Amino acid sequence: MNEITVAALDTERFIAEKVAEIRAAVGDGTAINALSGGVDSSAVTLLGHRALGERLRTVFVENGLMREGEAEMVVRVFGELGVPVEVIDARDAFFGALAGLTDPEAKREAITQTFYRDIFGRLVRESGATFLLQGTILTDVDETVAGIKRQHNVLAQLGIDPQQAFGYAVIEPLIQLRKDGVRAVAEALGLPKSIAQRMPFPGPALAARVIGEATPERIATVRRATTVVEEVLRDSGAFQVMAILHEDRVTGVRDGVRDFGQQIEVRCWDSVDARTATPTRLPFDTLERLAEGILREVPGVVSVTYAIAPKPPSTMEAV
Ligand code: XMP
Repeated sequence: MNEITVAALDTERFIAEKVAEIRAAVGDGTAINALSGGVDSSAVTLLGHRALGERLRTVFVENGLMREGEAEMVVRVFGELGVPVEVIDARDAFFGALAGLTDPEAKREAITQTFYRDIFGRLVRESGATFLLQGTILTDVDETVAGIKRQHNVLAQLGIDPQQAFGYAVIEPLIQLRKDGVRAVAEALGLPKSIAQRMPFPGPALAARVIGEATPERIATVRRATTVVEEVLRDSGAFQVMAILHEDRVTGVRDGVRDFGQQIEVRCWDSVDARTATPTRLPFDTLERLAEGILREVPGVVSVTYAIAPKPPSTMEAV
């Protein structure tokens, strides 16, 4: 598959071609797709909906690892676009699979298996769908093949045949695009700017931002910190902002008493395509507002740091 750069992209033609390809592939069968609320899966949802109408079943998998209010936001925004979204509660399955895991690749693998084998395997079997539509983009493939980081949604390029492994075929209409191309297609499809220009968020969700075991409690901590960071940095213009929960504790003092507490690291990235990135030069009073907000809103945190290492050698996410 050849790359289509944003400069070479004719969005209307791209949309018409992909709609036709999805129709041709699915025939008179049915397809299913997982919508996370990110720009990639949102664009795929609208392409699939245009191609298949009611023969596309769109689900939001509530894996317990998403940001605050995501399920409600996704159901509302797509409801306004005429696309019904079904919320599937899969929290127990994901936390069960993540229990006891601390190795980053083991965590990614557990999420992949839970998503594709357990949740989607069952949904597809129950619904009789023969296709899964998903929003893999070229950067996901590049980084996985280069061995930098296993992206949860990359299968074929790793030698995994989804038909054989999970019992359904995967259609990836965005695989020739990078993020900037997907954003252009999303806008052309009529998605609101809040989605089309939305900051990237990783497939493994907040589990990519908890160093060590991703328990419900630790995910709740990083979720609260994420809300603060996204709010304070809303107008920063950064490519991506995030809060990371560290595994080790540090000594703090609260109300005159020693408190062996948790550490949150804030990252705020300038980047064009996520392949390289540099930390944003935030004003010090913004950093102070981040610290105040996190220390106020997130119980148990006694330390807030700001990451200043570029990618490479850092990566953008911590896991
Ligand atoms: P890294 O951490 O690899 O992130 O520098 C580069 C970009 O990719 C996102 N990211 C992921 N997205 N599945 C995804 O769908 C993943 O496993 C994953 N890991 C990282 C990250 O948020 C950043 O935008």
